[in-house]
Amino acid sequence: MFKPVNVAILGATGAVGTELLELLESRNFPLNNLKLLASSRSAGTHLKFKGESIKVEAVDEKAFDDVDLVLASAGGSTSKAWAQTIVDSGAVMVDNSSAFRMNPDVPLIVPEINPEAAANHQGIIANPNCTTILMAVAIYPLHQVQPIERIVVSTYQSASGAGARAMEEVKIQSQAILKGEDPKAEILPYPLAFNLFPHNSPLTETGYCEEEMKMVNETRKIFNTPHLKITATCVRVPVLRAHSEAINLEFKAPFSVAQAREIIAQSPGVQLLEDWQKNYFPMPIDASGKDDVLVGRIRQDISDPNGLELWICGDQIRKGAALNAVQIAELLMEKSLLNIAKSSLKV
Ligand code: A2P
Repeated sequence: MFKPVNVAILGATGAVGTELLELLESRNFPLNNLKLLASSRSAGTHLKFKGESIKVEAVDEKAFDDVDLVLASAGGSTSKAWAQTIVDSGAVMVDNSSAFRMNPDVPLIVPEINPEAAANHQGIIANPNCTTILMAVAIYPLHQVQPIERIVVSTYQSASGAGARAMEEVKIQSQAILKGEDPKAEILPYPLAFNLFPHNSPLTETGYCEEEMKMVNETRKIFNTPHLKITATCVRVPVLRAHSEAINLEFKAPFSVAQAREIIAQSPGVQLLEDWQKNYFPMPIDASGKDDVLVGRIRQDISDPNGLELWICGDQIRKGAALNAVQIAELLMEKSLLNIAKSSLKV
């Protein structure tokens, strides 16, 4: 049993924030006090937790005074705006945004892969990008048996990655199209209902968008393989909340399909789901609401004797975001890494 701690959710009203709330309840996280923080837009509204109604407060300078742990999911600019206040208050921040992921003083953790990195935290731990977590948890068990030399990944990303309002927008767009009206795009850059488009994150000088570069850089950091070859194409699809990914892995020597299946079937955080007779493989509707990343269609790459092909689906809001953050928080509790001496981290 752990001593209950004071937790704040920053971004409690969002898609990930509400899932964090549900996970703290369903996993019976040892809580003393729970504070729900958001912008002034939703201050005064209420959210349910263990049958109680908790008032949402606007975040301010004093919000973190009595807090041990902050689970932040309110976007990069909000994380950047409050991180120093949180660290200075002595709380530990598990940050879901991309703001600090590549900071060398900030561990980037998927608990099934690199839990040991938590020991080095200085007040902030970053939760990786959702597509990166889902891929990493699925392929790491194979990488442990035989190091991966190159990854080629294509993603099929749901609206949830752009937040609760984007999910709502896709539903409204679908209704408009079915009524013969023009769909309006206000949150996402283009209509997503009955459509798809390359991921809308800003383009970088490489020609890859930021989402694609997150898959490259964050996977390297989590695996501690700075030179691992990775190329990604990220696409948004009109699915509400689970991401899918087609992953091609190249090893130094052949990796048997049978062994890959056996490894996936036994590894934590993943579930083998394939019925070759029925041509049934993971779908977003199977993955939605589930903790495990579903893996299927494991097959030999016919173009490369050292290659394997995989198809995965994972709940973007759960393992891709909120669940991974709560697992990090549980790790901090287990390893007594929460009540640290005052950190001098400057961000
Ligand atoms: P609010 O409901 O007040 O806008 P999502 O990722 O689903 O869009 O959710 C974003 C979350 O981040 C929401 O809880 C949102 O609160 C919160 N948020 C957005 N901007 C700020 C801000 N400037 N300060 C605090 N919370 C913010």
